[in-house]
Amino acid sequence: MRMKIIGTGSALPRTRVDNGQMAEWVDTTDAWIRERTGIGERRLSTGETVVSLGTEACLKALEQAGIGAEEVDLILLATCTPEYLFPCGACQIQAAIGAVHAAAYDINAACSGFVFGLNAAQAYIRAGVYRRILVVGSEVLSKVADWSDRSTCVLFGDGAGAVLAQAREDGESRMLSSIQGADGTKGMVLNCRSRMMMNPLFQENPEEADTMYLTMDGREVYCFAVRQVAVCIAQVLEKAGLTPEEVGLFILHQANVRIIEAVARNLGVDIGRFPMNLERVGNMSSASIPVLLDELNREGRLHRGDRIVLSGFGGGLTYGACVLVW
Ligand code: ACO
Repeated sequence: MRMKIIGTGSALPRTRVDNGQMAEWVDTTDAWIRERTGIGERRLSTGETVVSLGTEACLKALEQAGIGAEEVDLILLATCTPEYLFPCGACQIQAAIGAVHAAAYDINAACSGFVFGLNAAQAYIRAGVYRRILVVGSEVLSKVADWSDRSTCVLFGDGAGAVLAQAREDGESRMLSSIQGADGTKGMVLNCRSRMMMNPLFQENPEEADTMYLTMDGREVYCFAVRQVAVCIAQVLEKAGLTPEEVGLFILHQANVRIIEAVARNLGVDIGRFPMNLERVGNMSSASIPVLLDELNREGRLHRGDRIVLSGFGGGLTYGACVLVW
């Protein structure tokens, strides 16, 4: 059984925040942010949630595919900014769209989450467990960003993207290969404690965390990403029996233009084959790849038979890639 993506959708919060606005909140400039990251503006939630954005993205993907929500077997939501510990966001989306026959659960692999979700969907479909799976990446990072830390808060944006993957016995479209990995020993270089977990019966004076918000060692993350992503893409291409020249587009997690440029250089591939949207939407963690995929699809830049590489990398630390025949 092969996996074919038959619908894509995305959703962004209404509120645009450009670098000029950001400079009114923290000590920064448009020039610094553009030069170091490539980001010009981002969308920030003024009420939209992981669930509301994810729901909108799923409904658009279903509409494009011409499939009813009740025909979906599974919803996989990649997010590291869920509203609740439980119920998980995937179950909330299941209720919102009326996917009454779908199982649903969340995946937290930070910025790699969507690729991990798509790899899981492929495994389920190949094994004959499920036929139609919604894979969603949805994040509201503005709620965990440290708005007093100019080195991190300028990087992130909020949004959601979704794909509907379906089992097919024939046709060219499929996933050719996938790869994923983690290095938990470096987990703290990009972390967010978010909430204090303690039992008040036994812990009267819980150890104070430095911060509940997102913290990052930017240089460590940069070095990890540049090294690991190029290796990961080279491995996933080798597994598929392809060379970089045989790939149409490389759709990478939109962390930072310098990371993407360095990966392109390391692979010896022209940067023009690495589409980017981070100038307009910033780094949306697990939503980056599916939002960009949806934009490219709706612009008519994806054609059946095209070979596409997706690659995510981020907190965990985690990394993953897959090769699709669109
Ligand atoms: N505006 C102006 N100045 C700033 C800002 C800002 N927003 N942020 C930091 N600075 C200053 C610092 O204070 C420092 O000043 P100093 O030299 O006087 O001390 C100077 O700029 C350089 O700071 P660095 O942190 O060394 O900046 P660097 O050149 O490393 O760039 C960056 C920071 C862009 C985050 C870089 O480390 C990077 O690209 N890291 C990759 C990580 C990344 O992109 N993460 C995204 C999230 S994780 C993910 O998606 C996988």
